[in-house]
Amino acid sequence: MDPLVLGIETSCDETGVALVRGRELLTDVTASSMDEHARYGGIIPEIASRAHLEAFVPTLDEALSRAEVSLADVDAIAVTAGPGLIGSLTVGVCAAKSLALALNKPLYGVNHIIGHIAVDELVHGELPPCVGLVVSGGHSSLLKINDLASDVTELGSTLDDAAGEAFDKVGRLLGLPYPGGPHIDTLARTGDRTAIRFPRGLSAGKDKVRHQYDFSFSGLKTAVARYIEGIGEQEAQEKKADIAAGFSESVADVLSAKAVAACQYQDTETLVIGGGFSANSRLRELIAERAEAHGVTVRIPPIRYCTDNGAMIAAIGSALARAGAAPSGLDITVNTHMPLNQIYLAPDRA
Ligand code: KG4
Ligand code: ZN
Repeated sequence: MDPLVLGIETSCDETGVALVRGRELLTDVTASSMDEHARYGGIIPEIASRAHLEAFVPTLDEALSRAEVSLADVDAIAVTAGPGLIGSLTVGVCAAKSLALALNKPLYGVNHIIGHIAVDELVHGELPPCVGLVVSGGHSSLLKINDLASDVTELGSTLDDAAGEAFDKVGRLLGLPYPGGPHIDTLARTGDRTAIRFPRGLSAGKDKVRHQYDFSFSGLKTAVARYIEGIGEQEAQEKKADIAAGFSESVADVLSAKAVAACQYQDTETLVIGGGFSANSRLRELIAERAEAHGVTVRIPPIRYCTDNGAMIAAIGSALARAGAAPSGLDITVNTHMPLNQIYLAPDRA
């Protein structure tokens, strides 16, 4: 029987605990501190860390009881070691180390971003070599995944804002509640996406060549701010659906074009999308159209597995344990900027 893997995620504002055996998800429990951040208009790291500390044990207990297993049944522990907020990561890593020590079980400190793609194995089955597009409030990256346990490379990432972050900032400009992403999406569907053409970051000339798989959304956000300044608050309110639609079009156009191009250049027929921004309706439409036109199959886990959760971490841990990867050891620390080529903290790390 495959090992039973406990996955722990605390990189941002979600405390996630899950149990996975092989590619089967037994249970997945998430507690979120988002409500505590909403009134500040952004995640407050100190509040998030403290919330993890409070939520961890109850979330773990709930996961064990729902899966009808005990800690003694766990064969290996996987925890997010990075990237993420330093305090939040530290709470999860300390909890995982304590459990690994107490239970005398192997510990894997794994990469959160790769987890966003790995989780699809639990939903749609074994991943073939694929391109992964991870889009959320904190990250926008393209990965090439040849083997989840041993071979992942970063193709590119955003040079500034993440896609969701740009939506949240433009949401603020339009006077929408935080997080603005879903509100802009809804508004955009009632607007004319051809009425205003906003710039497409890193998509033309030398930038397109030099940054083939990178993204940049901060110039776009500035272009929207300038546009609103130019027409004035009142007219901006009248045109807000068109602004939202034109802005969404720019983000979805760039993400979908680069993701499908990556599949072509990397000679891959599968594109996996993860992260909370994958809920964006225009992104889904454009990806579906362009992927079909190029013979690419798109896999997107249900939205609850796209936002941060423990299952994504257990999925990598399970792949590592099945492959017999050497555990990280108990001396790991967090890496807020863990490189995307690093699946986990191997014991021989420098
Ligand atoms: O993955 P996630 O829950 O949080 C992070 O770990 O970052 O993603 C949330 C981000 C937020 O920026 C939110 O505004 C954005 O994704 N988002 C959307 C939509 N749903 C969530 N942005 C645009 N359209 C949506 N439908
Ligand atoms: Zn995430």
